[in-house]
Amino acid sequence: MKEKLKVLEQEALKALEATGGPQEVDRLRTQYVGRKGAVTLCLRKMSDLPPEDRPEVGRLANEVKTRLELAFKDAIEGLEKERKMPAEALDVTLPGRPVARGRLHPITQITQDICEIFLRLGFEIVEGPDVELDYYNFEALNIPKDHPARDMHDTFYVSENTVLRTHTSPIQVRVMEKQSPPVRVIAPGKSYRVDYDISHTPMFQQVEGLMVEENISFGDLKGILTTFVHQMFDEETSLRFRPSFFPFTEPSAEVDIRCVICRGKGCRVCSHTGWLEVIGAGMVHPAVFEMVGYDTDRYTGFAFGMGIERITMLKYGIEDIRRFYENDIRFLEQF
Ligand code: DAH
Repeated sequence: MKEKLKVLEQEALKALEATGGPQEVDRLRTQYVGRKGAVTLCLRKMSDLPPEDRPEVGRLANEVKTRLELAFKDAIEGLEKERKMPAEALDVTLPGRPVARGRLHPITQITQDICEIFLRLGFEIVEGPDVELDYYNFEALNIPKDHPARDMHDTFYVSENTVLRTHTSPIQVRVMEKQSPPVRVIAPGKSYRVDYDISHTPMFQQVEGLMVEENISFGDLKGILTTFVHQMFDEETSLRFRPSFFPFTEPSAEVDIRCVICRGKGCRVCSHTGWLEVIGAGMVHPAVFEMVGYDTDRYTGFAFGMGIERITMLKYGIEDIRRFYENDIRFLEQF
């Protein structure tokens, strides 16, 4: 019996080596260690042996059975692996998948462009707080309580005397409080108003400009803004200064540029006027200078403010301001 078991084991292993597929291995398994397999049958016939031989032969039979089962299992796993290999193979000659590159938000890009132009013109960049005192946002800009101009600003109030700044103009006051002329600053930043439609978002961005020195005239304002528009758009983009009103400037102007979409022929973007309103500006009101203690006999200055989203929309032909803040990667990827 012992001999027979050894022969069976050798025979089975030899047969296994010659197999070509999993079915064949399975058949061998049944043949040797299945319920009616050759090795199994040996185990069953143990009772025919003299009792003193049974323990040794039994142990051997069990060992052979265990070894063969393991061999069959390994063989099946090996075959399975071989079968999967081609499907899972790595083609090292394939080009790598490109990693999407991050980029700056279009508003950030245009803010940087605007700042660069003014830096070249000798302006310095300053900032101020988003949560602002009523005093800086209104009072010091010649907009006292109950002034009708406050209605134009649909203000988010944080408390009675604190607001989310409705424009970047309060930064002018903060700068002038700290610094005496000459002043030549621009202040980019977020502004907030209760408003939401195709051309308004509750948070939007502005760039404020301020220049104060002796002998600053409206001509300087025109010169600086013309240079800015020519560098931001192109030399062919003409400007128009229309009389307007802001409490903190006198005289005040709305600055229009020739429609950059239709070049003045008239289109939907310029409401068929050929002009686009892009900048508010004027000569700093003496009342504002008095608030910060500037000598109004000695100094004059100009200020201006513009919406960055508006400039960006014109630059890229975007029609709905809300796109900027929806975080749609498909939109943002284009810039
Ligand atoms: N702060 C004004 C606004 O948000 C824009 C503005 C107009 C700023 C005239 C100025 C200015 O500095 O002189 O509508």
